[in-house]
Formats: sequence, structure tokens, C-alpha cells
Amino acid sequence: MSNIVILGAQWGDESKGKLTDVFAEHADVVARYQGGDNAGHTIVLGEKTFILHLIPSGILRPNTVNVIGNGVVINLETLFREIDGLQAQGVEVSSKNLKISDRAHLIMPYHKLVEQWEQMGSATKIGTTSRGIGPTYSDKMNRHAGIRVGDLLEFDHFQKKLDYNLETKADALQVGDVARHTLLETYYNYAERIAPYVTDTVAFMHETIAADKRILFEGAQGTMLDIDFGTYPYVTSSNCTAGAVCTGLGIGPKVIGEVLGVSKAYVTRVGGGPFPTEMPPDLDEEIRDIGKEYGATTQRPRRCGWLDLVALRYATQINGLTAIALTKLDVFDTLADLQVCVAYRYKGKETTTFPSSLKVLEECEPVYETLPGWQQPLTEARSAEDIPQRTKDYIKYVADYLNVRIPIISVGPDRNQIVVLGAPLW
Ligand code: GDP
Ligand code: IMO
Ligand code: MG
Repeated sequence: MSNIVILGAQWGDESKGKLTDVFAEHADVVARYQGGDNAGHTIVLGEKTFILHLIPSGILRPNTVNVIGNGVVINLETLFREIDGLQAQGVEVSSKNLKISDRAHLIMPYHKLVEQWEQMGSATKIGTTSRGIGPTYSDKMNRHAGIRVGDLLEFDHFQKKLDYNLETKADALQVGDVARHTLLETYYNYAERIAPYVTDTVAFMHETIAADKRILFEGAQGTMLDIDFGTYPYVTSSNCTAGAVCTGLGIGPKVIGEVLGVSKAYVTRVGGGPFPTEMPPDLDEEIRDIGKEYGATTQRPRRCGWLDLVALRYATQINGLTAIALTKLDVFDTLADLQVCVAYRYKGKETTTFPSSLKVLEECEPVYETLPGWQQPLTEARSAEDIPQRTKDYIKYVADYLNVRIPIISVGPDRNQIVVLGAPLW
């Protein structure tokens, strides 16, 4: 039985949440392995829309256990708000269907302040989600400062770590904002509330594997935001690529069967950084309007661009993608011509290798191939026969370029707006 990784193959917001929810119908466990509440994963069920930040996208499936692994960073305030919000919408969230790693690191209120302080003093305008992600992962790596979920269960220990942080970060913290006694009281209450969910998730994952159950691994952010392989420094502070599944959950690579990369039929990016196929302002606005391209976490307008096959092939390679889900194809329904970037031109020469240097990337000009649009609505399509030939040709062009199959496409935000084209992954 083949476990599936579902991860973003672009700069985030590819519809990972929706795809994870779709596959979760047949999953026993859905596990997040990196990132934090910088993620915003949208799932639409008819009239109801759910936006998940930390809780895995299997939570809407009653028989699925959801795991937040050690590689995730957790803001308890937003976690509890998310749990409350889901429960208010009638979704069961309990220690039965949500397990949180005792090794996961905590995003503390001061991390957001440190992030603001750092952003003010830096010429590099990353345009983060301001969730304190970078400073939390920095503290984890630094080792002296990091605080883990498990520390809350030994409160004396937590208190010592907190004091260390308040002292060493005094420069960045506006004293008074994070008064020590208030923090202690808040976290004492959080410790009580989180306790039932805290689990040795490594042991849990291995029990699940031993029982031959079906696991989905849900990525956050996207390949091009990966700390090593993305457009550094305009990236997030974790590895978002397939390797992080192992380190973020404590499993070996052989547990992974399929690696499904989720890609829009175009590209979007929130925040700063180079974006070779960014559309000219008129088209950028048109696609943003049709695709409702506004951040699920920060509501910022997303920058829109044509499908970048150079970047997508790079994503295919570093993740070892075995399949791609192409999403938001319906956004192209009215367009006469579609462009796809098949190479970059750098100093007069064409290349299909994604450069590591930002300076080089900024100077790369996209080389486009123009493909005909289908100019027919796709939103009602539910099976391969409903898909126009021109749409199939577009999909085939992408699959052939990447040499990866595209067995599933998405034609609208709803859970049902999915078309299976090839042999299903499960
Ligand atoms: P994620 O972060 O990868 O889970 O993606 P987001 O939820 O941030 O962004 C995807 C957005 O597109 C959400 O608003 C979804 O409801 C919406 N969406 C997902 N799939 C489709 C699709 O095929 N067509 C359209 N039009 N919208 C989609
Ligand atoms: P999902 O999981 C899109 C971007 C931010 C910024 C950079 C660094 O919904 O795809 P951070 O707060 O992580 O330090 O910000 O990364 N970013 C995302 N962009 N979707 C996301 O998550 C993102 N998470 C972070 O906009 O450019
Ligand atoms: Mg998102």
C-alpha cells in the first residue's frame, strides 16, 4: 500500500489543502511535517469554506487521524483559535483525531516581535507572513533558545527557558508587551489545554506504518519557498520539499510511495522576490480577479504569472515527483492564448536549468511557447470525457515536458470539482 506525499511544486497556494482533503477520504492518517501557521489551506464543501493553518487537511474526514509532526512550528494561540473555529462549524477535533508532537517547537509571542524588528533593520524585504516563523526556526537551530511542546509538560523547565529568552531578546522586545507574569499564566493554561493532544508522534507514525494503514503527508508552502532550494533569501525558514517528510516526522524514505506535486495551471507568489514569468499588470489583475488570488493567511494580493516549466521541472527533480495535480485550470476558461515558459534566456543564451543565484535569475528572460486556450467552461467537468481536447493538449504538453504523469486536475474550489484523468494514485 502506497503512502502519498502531497506538496506544493511552486511558490505556495497551489491547492494542497483541497487535494489533501480529496485524498483523505481514503486515508487513515494525514500528517503535517513542516511550516507553521504561515500556511493557509482552503477546503470548500458546498456553502462552507474552511481555512486551515496548522491542522492537517484530513480533519474534515471523520475517520482520519491528523498528526502535527516534530518539523512543524506551533503557535498555541492560533492553534486553539483554529480548533475553536472548527468545533464551532461542527467539526470534531479531539485528542482522538489530532496528535501533536512533543518535539515540535513553539512559536512564542516574542518571535513575532523579533521578526518585526529584524525586518525593519534589513534591506531584504522578504514580505513574510509576520507569523514569527523565521525566528522560531532560528531558535530551534540555535538550541539554547528553542522551546518544544514537550517542555510545557515540565513547567519549571519551560519557565527557565522562557526567562532565558526574555533576557537574551531584550533588545528586540518592547518590554511591557510581553510581561513575564502574563506570559507564564497564559502558557500555564495552554499547557493544561494542549496536554491531551501531546503525543510521541514518532511512535504513533510507526504503529500506523506497522499496521499497514494509509498515510498522506501534507506539505505547506511550496518547493520554490524551500530554505535550501527556493529563491533564497525570499523563502520560508523550513525545507518544504519531499526530504522534509522524513525529518519532520521521524520516518524513513521507503515509507513514501508516491510524491504528488500540486501545481496551478499558472503561478502565483505572495511576498517579495524574483518571479520570472510574472504577468504584465493588466493580465496579472485579470487572473487575480478570476482566480480570487488573495492570500488565505494574510489576504495580500498574490502576484500572478504564466506557468514556469523551468521551475516546475526543477521542482520535479528535487522532490522526485511521481505525479502532478494540475489545479485552477478553470481560471483559463476565457483566455484565447496561453503562454508557458519553456526556457530562460540569460545573456543571450537559452537554459532550462533553474539558477541558484538571485542576480542571474533576475536577469533571466522567460522564453514562451503559446498554446491555444479552450474557451469553454471547465467547472462542471467531472470525468475525462467532459474535458475539451485543447485542455487535454495543454495538460499533455506539461506532462511531456516534465516527463511526469498528470492523473488528476482541479476545475474549481469545491471538493467535488476534481477530474481523474489517469490511473488513480489510490
Ligand atoms: P494551498 O495553500 O495550497 O492549500 O492553497 P490555498 O488554499 O492557499 O489557495 C488555493 C485557492 O484556490 C483557494 O482559495 C481554493 O479554494 C481555490 N481553489 C482550489 N482549487 C481550485 C480550482 O481548481 N479552481 C479554482 N477556481 N479555485 C481553486
Ligand atoms: P501555503 O501552505 C504562499 C511566503 C511569504 C513570504 C515567504 C516567507 O498556504 O502554500 P514566512 O512567514 O514563511 O517567513 O514568509 O514565504 N509564504 C507563503 N506563500 N503560501 C504559503 O503557505 C506561504 N507561507 C509562507 O509570503 O514570501
Ligand atoms: Mg495557501
